[in-house]
Amino acid sequence: MKNVLAIYPGSFDPVTNGHLDLIERGAKIFDRLVVSILRNFDKEPLFTIDERVEMLREVTRPWANVEIDVFSGLLVDYARLREANVILRGIRAVSDYEYELQMAMMNRKLNKEVETVFMMPAVSYSFLSSRLVREIAHLGGPITGLVPTVVEERLRAKIL
Ligand code: PNS
Repeated sequence: MKNVLAIYPGSFDPVTNGHLDLIERGAKIFDRLVVSILRNFDKEPLFTIDERVEMLREVTRPWANVEIDVFSGLLVDYARLREANVILRGIRAVSDYEYELQMAMMNRKLNKEVETVFMMPAVSYSFLSSRLVREIAHLGGPITGLVPTVVEERLRAKIL
């Protein structure tokens, strides 16, 4: 395959070291990787879209082929718009598989041109999620090592 553009979609509220691990792996094998934040009007996020974009831009600065973007609506429509070949998703454990398989199959039904590729983060991040990070931060627990330093600082500023 030539010039593969992959989209890594998600909420990234906030970006964790697990996401970053996947971004690093994705940036190595795809020509371009677009990390795309879903603008979800249903959810009440901790960080605004702008804050999430800023944090992602900062932590992905080392990779020249990584771009940060925002999307709303159907992921497959956005993929078509961006002329993406791949949707990248992370699978941490078997528990992720069922939901991810369902989404991948539905996305394939909606758009046959785009292929979902799963990658596994380092095993040390297999228990990590944005939801748990938010909860630990809210309850005053330690989040060092779970998120990049800039996110840790922003979490403390937001929650304290
Ligand atoms: O980080 P998340 O919350 O697990 O990401 C979920 C995401 C953004 C990948 C998923 O909710 C999504 O693609 N939403 C866009 C709407 C859509 O296309 N829904 C149909 C999926 S089959």
